[in-house]
Amino acid sequence: TRTQVGIIGAGPAGLVLAHLLRQRGIDCVVLERQSRSYVEARIRAGVLEHGTVDLLTSLGLADRLHRERMVHHGIELLFERSAHRIPLTELAGHEISIYGQHEVVKDLIAAWDGPLHFSVSSVALSSLDSAPVVSYVDSSGVPQVLRCDVIAGCDGFHGVSRASIPPSVLRVYQRDYPHAWLGILAQAPPSSEELIYAHSSRGFALHSMRSPTVTRMYLQVRPDEDLSLWPDERIWSELRARLDRSESTWSLADGPILERSVAAMRSFVVSPMRYGRLFLAGDAAHIVPPTGAKGLNLAVADVKVLADALSSFYATGDSAGLDAYSSTCLQRVWRVQHFSWWMTSMLHPTGDDPFDLALQLAQLRYVTSSRAAATSLAENYVGFPFP
Ligand code: FAD
Ligand code: DHB
Repeated sequence: TRTQVGIIGAGPAGLVLAHLLRQRGIDCVVLERQSRSYVEARIRAGVLEHGTVDLLTSLGLADRLHRERMVHHGIELLFERSAHRIPLTELAGHEISIYGQHEVVKDLIAAWDGPLHFSVSSVALSSLDSAPVVSYVDSSGVPQVLRCDVIAGCDGFHGVSRASIPPSVLRVYQRDYPHAWLGILAQAPPSSEELIYAHSSRGFALHSMRSPTVTRMYLQVRPDEDLSLWPDERIWSELRARLDRSESTWSLADGPILERSVAAMRSFVVSPMRYGRLFLAGDAAHIVPPTGAKGLNLAVADVKVLADALSSFYATGDSAGLDAYSSTCLQRVWRVQHFSWWMTSMLHPTGDDPFDLALQLAQLRYVTSSRAAATSLAENYVGFPFP
């Protein structure tokens, strides 16, 4: 078969791109390694920038999002057992929306009636500098060949797309952190109206939510942490200890833990985000540590740039947008990299260095007492306008 754009991966990047291309009259085929039920159940991010919500709304994909999301106008920073609110909307002019990434993925799949092949295997890309070809084995075990004008590599950090580019042409920027996040989803009502980012002597904790009956929480742990050492009781008592505050009576509601996992924390960028007719988008090109809640939003911003560039390419033959794709995206990528690194560095005690700890507390006091500093945090957190 033949298509204009071959999309590898049906995560947020691949699915939003498919819908954007459809809106612009461009054909595409989406190939996904996992099954539909797997991608629809994969629990990941939960904070949507207003730009992401607006884009989904303009595509007509946000009816359920608007009904079910939780709109938040601020976040709390908790340190030295004392809570400080950052009024996001007041300072930066935009709210954030709490709505699970897998709910976005479900909505995008349900609204898609074009070609989308799940459970494909042995995906391989070739002829990337002339006439790209994707070969794969379909869910029935039959080998297939897809010829495309362009390939969009939306297959995440461990995908095949970035790995298909000769390493000598890519520059890699990377930072690993000495911590990871243990995440849980629990059948328990949120114990706060807003998200709580907590710095404590025992480590970082985050109280988030998905609905009035489901909470999502994270604990800073070691990168090699063994989940079997974390029975439910230990998770709850550690969350209670890290989220505790001295100025009021506050208690954490608990309940059955529905899902748990440990995620490594990493900063990663490749440049350029293009090789010949292969364009990388989302986690395939960059990873941010989750503290800024940016991964999904950045993936959506990339594919907006790509869809606009492809649209003018097909309309007029002008490749200027495609030629600028990587540099356009990387400007936002590096702003978000800095913010995510900064939030991570400010909120995760490393334990042994009193100098680092004093800097963290100085910075936390500053962002919660200076309107200028709080506004900087807020405008980054709610997200800059989409390209
Ligand atoms: P993905 O969502 O990874 O989608 C890529 C898709 O490609 C997947 O469906 C994958 O199955 C498919 N694929 C892979 N290889 C192939 C192949 N060879 N052929 C075909 N398909 C393939 N961000 C936050 O802001 N907050 C969080 O709490 C948070 N938690 C996270 C937890 C985990 C475990 C992970 C991995 C990420 C988390 N993120 C979080 C980051 C955020 O979820 C990602 O930035 C976002 O999913 C990026 O979207 P994407 O479409 O680029 O990539
Ligand atoms: C969530 C995840 C994040 O990484 C974050 O910074 C805030 C909230 C969440 O899953 O709800």
